[in-house]
Amino acid sequence: MQIAIDGPAGAGKSTLARTLARKMGFVYIDTGAMYRALAWKVLQTGISLEDAEAIAKLALGLDIHFENYRGEQRLLCNGEDLTEMIRSPQVNAAVSRVAQHPEVRRIMVQKQQDMARSSNVVMDGRDIGEWVLPEADYKFYLTAGLQERALRRKMELENKGFRQDLETIMEELRQRDQMDQSRQVGALKILPDSIVIDSSRQSADEVLQQILTIVGKN
Ligand code: DC
Repeated sequence: MQIAIDGPAGAGKSTLARTLARKMGFVYIDTGAMYRALAWKVLQTGISLEDAEAIAKLALGLDIHFENYRGEQRLLCNGEDLTEMIRSPQVNAAVSRVAQHPEVRRIMVQKQQDMARSSNVVMDGRDIGEWVLPEADYKFYLTAGLQERALRRKMELENKGFRQDLETIMEELRQRDQMDQSRQVGALKILPDSIVIDSSRQSADEVLQQILTIVGKN
């Protein structure tokens, strides 16, 4: 069984996907974390964010996988644990630009499809329902208002030791939404078979219960 969750940054996708996967005994694949790991590597190697060919080459050589450690999911990239680094403001600012190149996306989609082949999965991202798992049993589009998403992102950053003011975060989300929705390949969009859920006025648990009811596990 495959469950796809797409939506803009800060809508609560990863919290939902993680808890849903745990409830259902499925594997959780955070595709945003995979693009983030690639963006981190791009920043580390000094490749230009616009150099699609070099980024694609770098992506091909990356072995990205998830491991559970003390009840937490960690991201390993060529053996290096990047779990914390990929949430930094530098990666936030670079990741959408890295993810905009069609040839880079082709490689990442392939990696994601390979990961989903052998287990039941909950996968979250932007293009999961359309490109990664077009045959998914359920396609959710999770969204929330810009201010609400910025507030959540601010708290998430603070919990990780990064401080940014709300206006800066809102502007960064606005730009990221714009890039994620307007790129040529893999753009974020509501599909004809998407089930749209607005989490602005719902707690994480309320959203989870709603989804469990839809997939028949409540
Ligand atoms: O969900 P997130 O904020 O961790 O995602 C980080 C970025 O990665 C986001 O701005 C767009 C990109 N992304 C993507 O292009 N396609 C995906 N399937 C997942 C994320």
